[in-house]
Amino acid sequence: MIRLGVNVDHIATIREARRTVIPDPVEAALIAERAGCDGITAHLRQDERHIKKRDIELFREIIKTKLNIELSTTPGIVSFVKRVKPDWACLVPERIEEITTEGGLDIFKQEKELKKVIPELKGKGIKVTLFIEPEKNIVEKAKELGSDAIEINTKSYGLRPDSKREIKRIIESAKHAKSLGLEVHAGHDLNYRNLYRMTEIEEIEEVNIGHSIIARAIFVGLERAVKEMLEILR
Ligand code: PXP
Repeated sequence: MIRLGVNVDHIATIREARRTVIPDPVEAALIAERAGCDGITAHLRQDERHIKKRDIELFREIIKTKLNIELSTTPGIVSFVKRVKPDWACLVPERIEEITTEGGLDIFKQEKELKKVIPELKGKGIKVTLFIEPEKNIVEKAKELGSDAIEINTKSYGLRPDSKREIKRIIESAKHAKSLGLEVHAGHDLNYRNLYRMTEIEEIEEVNIGHSIIARAIFVGLERAVKEMLEILR
């Protein structure tokens, strides 16, 4: 079964709407774990606009499943993540004004930074994923740079789940990555309606989902929202 990582950033976004202490993303992580998820994902942005360094430290102490931190190659954030040692570090592009991650890494343009950061993270025993667009040459570059895994950006598929072209790009990239020895993850804009196609791609080992789970949790509660997503993966 594909592993489910629950992204709890939106819990921190609600907390920060009032600059207060509730709702607590750590409590959300514990509820998600109780519901049966396989990991907790959080994006530590440079401006700490939702998840803060303190949250990451608490996740590291408290959660029992895998911790996956999304981060940019910004030196201060990389040093912090190296110290906290999550199970996975997922490198993503970051633009201060963006609402959410806008696309996969431009790994050709960022080659120099990635060549520095990937071995640094791996040297601390942290597994590295690169969040990329599903393109063969990008997958090959991710392998060349020494990544352990790729996370395929499923945004284009998520917005157009009936597009044969989008699903084909994901399938081909996933197969190619697996044949090169990379682990394959997927994420972005996956929801209760479009996730099932991912379950048909045997190379995909993990999905990371945030927005749709937290949105559903508002109406049915987080535990049930996570369980319903797990049902689809089963
Ligand atoms: N994977 C990555 C790399 C992301 O940046 C995000 C959003 O933070 C997600 C997965 C989850 O996306 P969504 O919130 O659309 O489920």
